[in-house]
Amino acid sequence: MLAAGIGIMIADTEAAWRSALSDALDAGFWIVCAFFAGEYFLRLAAAPGAPGGELRGAWRSRLAWAGSMGGICDLVGAVPGALAVVLGPEVASLFAFVWAFKLVRYAPGLVVLQRVIADAQRALLSVFLGFCIVLLVSASLAYLIERGTQPQIFGSIPAALWWAIVTLTTTGYGDVTPLTPLGRILAGIVMISGILVFALWAGILATGFAQEIRRREFLRTWDLVAKVPFFHGVGAAVIADVVRLLRPREYPAGAIIVRRGAPGDCMYFVVSGEVKVQLRPEPVALGPGEFFGEVALLTGAPRNATVVAARHCTLLSLDIVDFRELLGRRPDLARVINEEAERRPGGAARNSGRETRRQRSRRD
Ligand code: CMP
Repeated sequence: MLAAGIGIMIADTEAAWRSALSDALDAGFWIVCAFFAGEYFLRLAAAPGAPGGELRGAWRSRLAWAGSMGGICDLVGAVPGALAVVLGPEVASLFAFVWAFKLVRYAPGLVVLQRVIADAQRALLSVFLGFCIVLLVSASLAYLIERGTQPQIFGSIPAALWWAIVTLTTTGYGDVTPLTPLGRILAGIVMISGILVFALWAGILATGFAQEIRRREFLRTWDLVAKVPFFHGVGAAVIADVVRLLRPREYPAGAIIVRRGAPGDCMYFVVSGEVKVQLRPEPVALGPGEFFGEVALLTGAPRNATVVAARHCTLLSLDIVDFRELLGRRPDLARVINEEAERRPGGAARNSGRETRRQRSRRD
């Protein structure tokens, strides 16, 4: 409906299409308007069904939805329909661009952006104030320097502000340029200041995005760690510690996770799915809650078996450096991992017999 509505708006502005298809375009426009108006009322009616609706009560839930980002976008989306009733579809279709706001609901990245901007608003505001100061100072200086040579262009500070904004944003239309040597030096400084301001903005937003993504990843990993029975007995403090170190990884069925003979760089916990340790005569299946890849980390020997994803699986990987750090800090976890490695045929005990002096010293 959105694509149809915006397509109609665009087609409406082409004189040839408008005259050839006016009835079809108007009919299509009415259908889209009716659809969006209906959507608004249905969403409003259904709002109490959202999580937490029973606690809030029906009308409070509706009010909360109407004031939410989605509710406001849907209300704005109903405006072209209202305008069509008053002014006719030909005029109202020019305002159909507001339907593009309805896409906000389907763009999760925009929600992240909204959060990033809200979190970094102080830093962004500081840079914006710096931008305004540089803008005013450069316009005033340009006015002082250039008004003698170009009174029609730099005859007032508001007129010089246009030059300052075009230069500070590094757009440079070229319609207004300083002619005096001093004016050109000023222009160079303003251009470089513009780059600095935008670099600062980009840096603040990029850092905000990275933090937000790390936070989301932390929550997702926490969720996954909570599903691994191995971590059930440990307290929240240990889980928080572990979550920081574990990295979620997805493997499709048939993917080789660990190859026999390869050096060990991390161990894995199975969250969901199943992996097969390819041993002779029978492979060993490991499911949710179990772990593998610890032997090579404990002994320093190469991987003693190939491990393949039997089905699509979600794993949590623990890097060798973090493995050592974690086991050093949490002797209880170290004991469970050591015991399991000893228990596994072909595990740590047997491997340690084959361990070279170099491997032993590396492990120590
Ligand atoms: P690693 O040697 O690092 O890489 C292969 C992994 O397969 C190994 O660690 C163990 O975690 C796992 N593994 C080896 N033998 C067995 C076994 N008999 N039962 C379960 N897992 C095993």
